[in-house]
Amino acid sequence: MRLGVLSDIHANLPALEAALEALRREGVDEVLLLGDLVGYGPHPREVIHRVWKEGLPAIAGAWDLRVAYPLPGALPEGVGRATLEWTRAQLSERELAYLRSLRLSHRLVFGERRLLAFHGSPGNPEEPLDLLAPARGLWELLSRYRAQVLLLGGRHLPLARRVGAGLLADPGSAGLSLSGEPGADALLLDTETLEARFLKVPYDPGPVIRDLEASGLPPVLAQVYRTGRFPKQG
Ligand SMILES: [Fe+2]
Repeated sequence: MRLGVLSDIHANLPALEAALEALRREGVDEVLLLGDLVGYGPHPREVIHRVWKEGLPAIAGAWDLRVAYPLPGALPEGVGRATLEWTRAQLSERELAYLRSLRLSHRLVFGERRLLAFHGSPGNPEEPLDLLAPARGLWELLSRYRAQVLLLGGRHLPLARRVGAGLLADPGSAGLSLSGEPGADALLLDTETLEARFLKVPYDPGPVIRDLEASGLPPVLAQVYRTGRFPKQG
């Protein structure tokens, strides 16, 4: 099976559409989303509705949870708090209920192989697992979850690590990649061979920046989406 994996769309509809189209051109059988559908970008409703229309399975990212569950003082004053409040105000109760319905993990079984997906790290969407950590610890993690593949969103950087017969991979960010190259990140995974191939999908960021500037979101975000540089990863 050819699995397409996207993460960290961050309310960027043109990036999601371009990435989905590229994965379809590659002939994927299924697409899985690893969270952070919303947050920072100007299209939270549009992204949720596109995910509904496509019927894509998704797990919750840190931003989806922040928006879904308003916790006083969860974020300090600043761009993060302003983004959180703006995003929540855009969403209907039905859309918020969808974010609340997202689970923290997703499991796929292919024959003998077991694949688990999380945002950040197993058990903590806020804390990205260090995929460059010593192999032994990563192998123990795979063993503990009895998984051959762990898919982990949230770094905004595409990275794959083979450990023994297992694989750990982050697809990077579709909507707000910090890889230094323009375009949406996507991962193609062959679930039989565990071959992981990363795509960098070009899209026009113009509408995202234009919609950001018109949105009332903090002006610095237009610069972030233009340059792919952000003072703090989230
Ligand atoms: Fe993110």
